[in-house]
Amino acid sequence: MIDTINNQQPIYILGIESSCDDTSAAVLCNNKVLANVIANQEIHRQYGGVVPEMASRSHQTHIIPVVHEALNKANITKKMLNAIAFTRGPGLLGSLLVGTSFAKGLAESLQIPLIDVHHMQAHILAHFIENSNELMDMPATPKFPFICLTVSGGHTQIVKVNSHFSFEVLGQTLDDAAGEAFDKAAKMLGLPYPGGPMIDKLAKQGNPKAFEFPHPQIQQLDFSFSGLKTSILYFLEKQQKETPDFIQKNLYDLCASIQFTIVQILIQKLEKAAKTTGIREIALAGGVSANSALRQAVINAGLKHKWHVFIPKLEYCTDNAAMIAMAGYFKYLKGEFAPLNITAEARIDMNINNSTQ
Ligand code: KG4
Ligand code: ZN
Repeated sequence: MIDTINNQQPIYILGIESSCDDTSAAVLCNNKVLANVIANQEIHRQYGGVVPEMASRSHQTHIIPVVHEALNKANITKKMLNAIAFTRGPGLLGSLLVGTSFAKGLAESLQIPLIDVHHMQAHILAHFIENSNELMDMPATPKFPFICLTVSGGHTQIVKVNSHFSFEVLGQTLDDAAGEAFDKAAKMLGLPYPGGPMIDKLAKQGNPKAFEFPHPQIQQLDFSFSGLKTSILYFLEKQQKETPDFIQKNLYDLCASIQFTIVQILIQKLEKAAKTTGIREIALAGGVSANSALRQAVINAGLKHKWHVFIPKLEYCTDNAAMIAMAGYFKYLKGEFAPLNITAEARIDMNINNSTQ
């Protein structure tokens, strides 16, 4: 039986990620990354956002070369793989289908286990990849239970992580995700998709207190970003009536002020979560955790509140297959495998972690 496997022996897992617009394949040996290959899809840039049908087609083009490159970089053959882990959801259904079908076919042909992975759980479990923490003076991995602020293009969640398999969502966004707030604000400023990294870059030259935007009054640990989006839109419309080139003249300050507001909203809820739970092991995950102001704000809050802070290295923030293989490894040790008739799911509850559901 698999659960008797001694985890000291080398276990090679191929991870496959295709939930949105990045096609990625990674090979891990236990918790060590041997290869993590990502093909970004530039095609969406001209449309100002991800076009689902184009994303699926692009995954089809990329998946085989990306998997080959990962195996080559890892310097192993397909026959050495112990299992294949893939993103089952949440994400764009057409995109997920490409990764799911490929993973099923390869697992069947190699006669090795297939492991389904929840994308948002994987973002969190990236913290267990060897050397994944950016802060060298912190312990290698967070201790259970820890709080993770998971911020991506589709989700914003505060999660209490009890084990590698138990995730409690304490709060989440009621409308837009933090990444969406960045991307939509960037679009209003005329910046290309994805806007988050552009805002981050331009904000470095601006004054974060130049403009003030309202904070949502949302109870408990939930978030809302749609009001902020509307207030930015109305503010820009009003200013442009008086000064047509208002955006061009104030671009750096606008980026810095919008970023400052989003980061403040996130940090205040994270502080509330730490206070109400009494947990001081605090992690950050997801694409928006690449944001330099958010990373610094979590470090500062950590110093203030004496938290142990875990911030992923940049390559493990945005979508990557290393995190999928990492999550797959834990399920492998437990012997939790997926049947070959498993389907991709655009939406899956964070607390449901059962291939048969
Ligand atoms: O986790 P992720 O790669 O994909 C999803 O699962 O959604 O997150 C993508 C999101 C996008 O909204 C992107 O704009 C945002 O992460 N993002 C950033 C930065 N890098 C990526 N947002 C702000 N600052 C960044 N440096
Ligand atoms: Zn993601």
